[in-house]
Amino acid sequence: MTKTMIEVLRKARVMPVIEIDDVASAIPLAEALDAGGLQVFEFTLRTPAALGAIEAAKKARPDLAIGAGTVLSIDDAERSIAAGADFLVTPGATPALLAALSRLGTPVLPGVATASEAMAVMEAGINPMKFFPAEAAGGPAYLKLLAGPLPKALFCPTGGIGPERVDDYLALPNVVCVGGSWVAPKDAVAAKDWARITENARRAAGGESKSQSS
Ligand code: 3PG
Repeated sequence: MTKTMIEVLRKARVMPVIEIDDVASAIPLAEALDAGGLQVFEFTLRTPAALGAIEAAKKARPDLAIGAGTVLSIDDAERSIAAGADFLVTPGATPALLAALSRLGTPVLPGVATASEAMAVMEAGINPMKFFPAEAAGGPAYLKLLAGPLPKALFCPTGGIGPERVDDYLALPNVVCVGGSWVAPKDAVAAKDWARITENARRAAGGESKSQSS
C-alpha cells in the first residue's frame, strides 16, 4: 500500500536534496545514504539525469523512499511517477498544480512560504508541506509563529539550511524533518565521494548535526 507523505517523512530526520548529473552514480549514492542511515531522499529535476537516477535507484533499492524534487508542472509529476518516484516535492504551488497534485495517488510535499500558502495547501487536502526557502523566509522563528494560528500545518523546512541549524528546526512541534543539499553536495556527488556522503548521512541521521559543522 502506498504510504502517505507524513508516513514517509516520519522516517526521515533529514531528507537529502540531490542534484545528480550522472545516472550511473544513482545506485552507489543511494547505497551511501542508506549506509549512513538515511532512507528518504529526493533527486531534483534540475538535471537531465534526475529521472534516470530515480528509475535506476528505485529498481536497485525498492525499499528506499526516493522522491522527485523541483516538480513544477503536472507533466513533471507524471514523468516522475512513471520513473518510479515514491513522492513529489515542489518549491511552490500554483492553484492549477495544487489541484492536480491533490488528485494524485502519489504522496506530495508542496512548497509554501506564507500562512496563506499553507492554508491553500491544507484546503487542497495536503499536509505536510515543504517550507521553502526556509532560512531566507524566516527560519525557525517564522515557523514557530505560524504554529500559533496554524497548529495543524506540518513542515519540512528546506533551503539554505546547514547541519548547525537542523536541531533548531527539529525542536519545533510543526517540523517533521529537515531537507537540504549539504548531506550529498554537488561536488561530493561529482567526485563520487561516497565515503564523505555516508559520513554526512550518519551524522545527520544520528542527531550529531551540530558537531558536524565544528
Ligand atoms: C531545494 O531544492 O529544496 C533547495 O534548493 C535545497 O536547498 P539547499 O541547497 O539550500 O540545501
